[in-house]
Amino acid sequence: MHHFDLKDGTLHAEGVPLELIADEAGTPVYVYSTATLKRHYGLLRAAADAHREALGEALIAFAVKANSNLSVLATLARLGCGADTVSEGEIRRALAAGVPADRIIFSGVGKTDMELAFAIGVGVRQINVESGAELDRLIAVAAMMGASPAIAIRVNPNVGAGGHAKITTGGKSDKFGVPAAEAMDLYRQASQSTHVTPVGLACHIGSQITDLAPLEAAFRVLAQMTRDLRAQGHAVTRLDLGGGLGVPYSGGSEPPSPADYVAMAARVLAGLEVEAAFEPGRLLAANAGVLLSQVIQINERSDGRRFLVLDAAMNDLMRPALYEAYHDVLPVTPRPGASQPYDVVGPVCETGDTFARDRALPPLEAEDLVVFTGAGAYGAVMASEYNSRPLVPEVLVEGENWAVVRPRPTYEEMLDREPFADWL
Ligand code: LLP
Repeated sequence: MHHFDLKDGTLHAEGVPLELIADEAGTPVYVYSTATLKRHYGLLRAAADAHREALGEALIAFAVKANSNLSVLATLARLGCGADTVSEGEIRRALAAGVPADRIIFSGVGKTDMELAFAIGVGVRQINVESGAELDRLIAVAAMMGASPAIAIRVNPNVGAGGHAKITTGGKSDKFGVPAAEAMDLYRQASQSTHVTPVGLACHIGSQITDLAPLEAAFRVLAQMTRDLRAQGHAVTRLDLGGGLGVPYSGGSEPPSPADYVAMAARVLAGLEVEAAFEPGRLLAANAGVLLSQVIQINERSDGRRFLVLDAAMNDLMRPALYEAYHDVLPVTPRPGASQPYDVVGPVCETGDTFARDRALPPLEAEDLVVFTGAGAYGAVMASEYNSRPLVPEVLVEGENWAVVRPRPTYEEMLDREPFADWL
């Protein structure tokens, strides 16, 4: 569900015509819908609230890596959403956007001592520890600060899942977390230190998961570990269930609903009396954003192959090049006529800069506008200036209002960031 619809024959973001945004902000540009962000958060919040008995006052912590724009984060923060972060930069963004420290979770496989100290200093809700080596360093850092931060041990439940091998995190050979038996040892070890306070367990098995079974299997591992730890006399009050629920990228596929997902979690956790946390990224943001782009030209070959050359490229939206991800391409102002197959490409100088092959699209001409849908998560955050293309800007819409929430750098700004070495 989203708020990008045709009105009077042209695509709008809520009440704002995308043509207007393209005219004034230029293309390529990411456009986000406040109403969609709110709706997605609201659905998950309502589902969690409906299962208070099993999930406690569940925290919904948006995975900042999915979309770290400050205005997007502030929109969610105002609804009461927390933040799942993986770097000092993300913690700083969450705080700057108004997420209270006690709703910030700090995860990640390689946190530096400085990042750990920063997280302790600002008082994040919990640090998810992913290895024995990290636990040792965290205890040392916390001891120096005279602190005892709340921690969860991230379990690798040996259940991998996800839309692509590169976004599967819970498999045995994936770098994340520790196997269950080791996690039990780490929990015991942590309980003996006065410089960390173990409060629970965490897992995150992958992203773009479209089947509840692997998620349920992982949650069951955490539930059983909770019982086992308690039997050994340990307190376990929080379970962080990670993110990972998939979203529909093309009209056809229908992943499980947030309500079914939360109901499943509540079933698995029933009776444990823990406080659950969810870390959705894609679920909240993907369909709240589009990448708006203009057709530069159409290259027609004598063999009939037709290349739709856009002003957006792989540096602006990496997902197709990196994961062969599917994003719908829609004309902003559709012309009547039969669809034809196009190879949808950008101007970057490599073949990987191909968004889609043989995609059936309605008639298009140079200077037409198109959007990539489902681009609000892992879109702008993964963009780069490859080929010296200025970093793609971002726009946030709310009703009839819109604002540039990250401007496109000018060429001067892009060049001025790099001082010449003083011997040149
Ligand atoms: N929690 C942790 C610990 C994570 O590592 C992630 C994502 C999430 C939560 C949020 O997962 P989500 O709900 O968004 O699936 N760039 C890739 C996705 C990488 C996901 C990494 N971890 C893509 O574009 O598909």
